[in-house]
Amino acid sequence: MSSKNDWRAPRGTHDILPQDESLWRYFYETVEWRASGFGFGRIETPLFEAPEVFTRALGETTDIVQKEMFEVRRATAEDSDETSSYILRPEGTAGVMRAYLENGMQVWPQPVKLWQYGPMFRADRPQKGRYRQFWYAGFEVIGDADPTTDAMAIFLGWQILGDLGVRDAVVVDINSIGDAVCRPKYKKALLEYYEPLKDKLCATCQTRLDKNPLRLLDCKEEDCEKLKKHAPQVVDFLCQNCREHFRIVLETLDELGVRYELTSTLIRGLDYYTRTTFEFRIEDDERRQGSVGGGGRYDGLLEQFGAKSTPAVGFAFGVDRVLELMQEKRAPVPPLPAPDIFVVQLGDRAKRASFNLIAQLTDEGFNVTIQPGKDSLKAQLRLADRGGVRFAVIIGQREALDGTAILRNMNENTQETVDQSDLVDLLKKRLAEPFEQRERRIAEEGEDVN
Ligand code: HAM
Repeated sequence: MSSKNDWRAPRGTHDILPQDESLWRYFYETVEWRASGFGFGRIETPLFEAPEVFTRALGETTDIVQKEMFEVRRATAEDSDETSSYILRPEGTAGVMRAYLENGMQVWPQPVKLWQYGPMFRADRPQKGRYRQFWYAGFEVIGDADPTTDAMAIFLGWQILGDLGVRDAVVVDINSIGDAVCRPKYKKALLEYYEPLKDKLCATCQTRLDKNPLRLLDCKEEDCEKLKKHAPQVVDFLCQNCREHFRIVLETLDELGVRYELTSTLIRGLDYYTRTTFEFRIEDDERRQGSVGGGGRYDGLLEQFGAKSTPAVGFAFGVDRVLELMQEKRAPVPPLPAPDIFVVQLGDRAKRASFNLIAQLTDEGFNVTIQPGKDSLKAQLRLADRGGVRFAVIIGQREALDGTAILRNMNENTQETVDQSDLVDLLKKRLAEPFEQRERRIAEEGEDVN
């Protein structure tokens, strides 16, 4: 017997309901419009990939790889020649890099600018703003080492947050974590600082110390947070080239009017970053829900996939978090366009006829709706009225038989009987008709008013 829990969405997941569609659609359309304005092409990659795509790209010592990946297997493993296990993608960059190489994008004109949108999966501890399936909008610029490109990526995110009406609530935390030249010196300094304090670190950080001391700066445990405050700062170890790169990124952001804060501990939870790292942080984030977006430069990642060294930079928004912020700040969201036409049907024969009519009207590009569960004229007209529909097409038994329909103008409470074959032309005319012209027509034709 099934328990009540079987009918709940899995822990850390949620449904997106029709009443939220305007919000989700507004986000998507805004991002699509801005991304294409900045020259990004849309890419979609599979929801799951071979484990190496993530373990290699994200880093063995990251939280995601160590404890947050979901594995996917065939429920019945008959094919021994098939790869037996995959990982549900916990983030988008690694899959996009795999696709960049697999689809030969190295020979496309560089940089290649790609954006993606879809769900990601992390076995995080669920809480508000932290889900096991969350939506992600990611942007990657591949094949460009210029520091102004880092600033352009940040500016794109900044613009989108402005479009969505929440930019005032957000600040960009920014840092540079150096490159293969200067990072080893910084790692050494970190090791020297933390080694004598090893006993005070959490168990995970103790094991991370030898393998990747930078990860210690990403730990959220209270004791580790305290030690982090006095740790050596990465900016003091940057080589000349990294320092120059960072200077230009910051200067460009100043020119573009992006509000940022230098945050020397921002190393991010993924290992692939070099030089610039940044996050879009909610300024008065009392719940410490985390950032609404984040990213950075990752010049060494494609090389890790066995390709030639290719510089790249990108970031991603956590869509659920941006939308929660929009709701919290009551950011204005345009309503979905109301349907133009409501088809009212009375009786079985009329119901069947109305389905055909809906298909025909939809084919003609009208935005049509119906409520087949409701049978009374009054109830259906009330729904049409509430939905802000401009015309109701009413089909009763008689109309279904003689091929006519009643066309009712919902704003004016006027109606006329017309042939179903004339409906499309008539509706096109009526829906396009400007107000004064309609007034004149009514005066001339003397349309009957109920
Ligand atoms: P990330 O910071 O791990 O970066 O994730 C991007 C965004 O996804 C975060 O800033 C956050 O808003 C959201 N997010 C992360 N985990 C959750 C969760 N459990 N529930 C809800 N939202 C979440 C990346 O994944 C990089 N691939 C971004 C990037 C693109 N870097 C370069 N290019």
